[in-house]
Amino acid sequence: MSRASERARLAARLVRARSRQRPHTLSHLITSRCNARCDTCLWRDARPSDVDTETVAWLYRAAGRAGFVHLVVWGGEPLLREDLGALLRVAKESGLYVTLITNGWFARERWAELRGSVDVLILSVDEVDCRHDEMRGLPGLYRRMDDFALSLQGDRKAPTLLINTVLSRQNEDVLPRVAAVARRWRAGLFFCPMETGVTLSAGRAESKADLALGHEELRAAAAQARGLKDQGYPILATRAYLDLLQRDPGLTSYSCRMPHSLITVESDGAVRDCRRHDQPLADIRRLRSTGEPLSAVFDLTRRRQLLREARSCTVCNNPDVIELSWLWDLRPSMLGKLAQLAVR
Ligand SMILES: C[S@@+](CC[C@H](N)C(=O)[O-])C[C@H]1O[C@@H](n2cnc3c(N)ncnc32)[C@H](O)[C@@H]1O
Ligand code: SF4
Repeated sequence: MSRASERARLAARLVRARSRQRPHTLSHLITSRCNARCDTCLWRDARPSDVDTETVAWLYRAAGRAGFVHLVVWGGEPLLREDLGALLRVAKESGLYVTLITNGWFARERWAELRGSVDVLILSVDEVDCRHDEMRGLPGLYRRMDDFALSLQGDRKAPTLLINTVLSRQNEDVLPRVAAVARRWRAGLFFCPMETGVTLSAGRAESKADLALGHEELRAAAAQARGLKDQGYPILATRAYLDLLQRDPGLTSYSCRMPHSLITVESDGAVRDCRRHDQPLADIRRLRSTGEPLSAVFDLTRRRQLLREARSCTVCNNPDVIELSWLWDLRPSMLGKLAQLAVR
């Protein structure tokens, strides 16, 4: 199937999942281990707790059976898992559209085994040249990614390439520089204000709040992104999101539908409750051992309660949470983006 027809099929399947009120995206932290040392990161964990290959393969097959459409694999650094190639092949065989997020260090040497199983590849770029290497604690990283990204050009089986840039006090004026990289790599540019903490049952853990941008800097970033978009740079955020970020940089005026559309599974198998990370909704190892389907999670009392609580929760500030919420609400700006995906 051509890439264009795969995308059209994806758009149709997303709409179908929405009309059945079922989550369409499985977000999977496939490992908590990482070879980098980003100051902003909330997810790297030195204590390995990854579930085994068979359980991840079960999860991907179960996700296909439960009607999920899209799998997003991240972590930790997913390319640290030796079994990644085999697992992504299981995901594809289960009918999932696969997005992989990586810091890119191992991309070139692992690509032969991943090629064909990744639909969208997201490379994380927080700066250019050695400044990026310093921010990630990996000397030579930017050069490795640049070589790899350019090597994809001309490959007919290359995935859709995107850059993800996290805006923090370490790189507040970076957008024009990464926009130029995106053009050179023929990649789309996704950016998000840094998230600052996770929510525990006892309240919010503001572990990295001092690195987050203030409202004025976020307004300036939104204006800059809008200017770059107007100049034809491949900024993926919708104008509706950029308007909101400029008008309300605290991003408190949206209604969250994220738990409707997405389920997150942590590296230890916990099914995340985004309002209280220390009390998961379920555990996939237990579901697998008791023979229950993944769809059993959909009807849990706590999940139903979470769907209601989310409506007035505005803890998350990144475009994917907000734009997925708008997509769930069938907002015209997001339907336009979906239509573009279908016809591009
Ligand atoms: C946690 S990483 C995992 C995948 C991989 N190790 C990587 O860096 O691409 C996924 C994405 O989250 C971004 N990220 C890191 N810290 C963040 C934060 N505090 N808020 C939002 N995104 C963040 C990373 O830059 C990366 O693009
Ligand atoms: S490379 Fe990714 S997982 Fe690793 S520390 Fe950086 S953001 Fe976190």
